[in-house]
Amino acid sequence: EKIAVLFGGNSAERDVSLKSGQAVAKGLTQAGFTVELIDTKTTPLSDLVSKKIDRVFIALHGRGGEDGCLQGALEYLNIPYTGSNVLGSSLSMDKVRSKQIFKACDLPTAPFSVVDKVDFEQLDLASLLSELGGRVMVKPANEGSSIGMAQAKTVDELNNALIEAFGFDNQVLLEAWIDGPEYTVAILGDEALPAIHMETPREFYDYEAKYQSTSTQYHCPCGLNAEDENDIRALSLKAFKATGAKGWGRVDVMRNSAGDWQVLEVNTVPGMTETSLVPKAANVYGLSFNELVTKVLLLSVK
Ligand code: DAL
Ligand code: MG
Repeated sequence: EKIAVLFGGNSAERDVSLKSGQAVAKGLTQAGFTVELIDTKTTPLSDLVSKKIDRVFIALHGRGGEDGCLQGALEYLNIPYTGSNVLGSSLSMDKVRSKQIFKACDLPTAPFSVVDKVDFEQLDLASLLSELGGRVMVKPANEGSSIGMAQAKTVDELNNALIEAFGFDNQVLLEAWIDGPEYTVAILGDEALPAIHMETPREFYDYEAKYQSTSTQYHCPCGLNAEDENDIRALSLKAFKATGAKGWGRVDVMRNSAGDWQVLEVNTVPGMTETSLVPKAANVYGLSFNELVTKVLLLSVK
């Protein structure tokens, strides 16, 4: 079988994807697969056909690669690919639809509002802020790696955060601030792997804390007691299934000061860089990086 690892692309997470793709391709090659690394920014998808690619490992993050578009094109070309299908990808990518689904499925998630760019001028920012407890996290609906995100405690901060977020998307999610630790749970097949607790001295686990800072700490095992660890894993698996995600992924969850879990989102193509989380959880679970990428590849269905 000839495998293509698709990476790079055009999204705001291109730099992350370049690293993920290289790591995945190296892992699959070391595991004995014939691998071609293809940057979708410079190579048309029709090359997958002319190069007689049998199977695709998607290592693209964000729009175009993680949101169902690429998945649809691969369905059309009849080439099997890793991870979620069109529906699961697009629902998981969209933080607004994801939260609507979590609510409908009775999965705990923080209160939120949705604002559209076309309504920006008419928004009553003071009311929006106070209805969500006076402190919010502002998130473009369809981004990853915390790109375009900021917290806001004042009308001015909210205004600036919205300008920034609308630079990335026409729809923005305002989520009530969660003052508690952040965890993440990797999903492999039907199984939730050991939870990781991320700790950063920064305001939140932002792009710098994720990829650049040396002061971010990762704890896996995460320090929860057995019952809580079971709970967060079960909840993450439910969230993963709720958005229709498949194969592999990662669910981000926080715990507020009252001790309640709050599901943030499902990532259907989680980062696979040096500092990334899924490889850490897999390692504690007993899978090397090469074994992990092999398993993800073999979970891809026709
Ligand atoms: N969106 C990044 C790549 C992640 O979830 O790991
Ligand atoms: Mg994400």
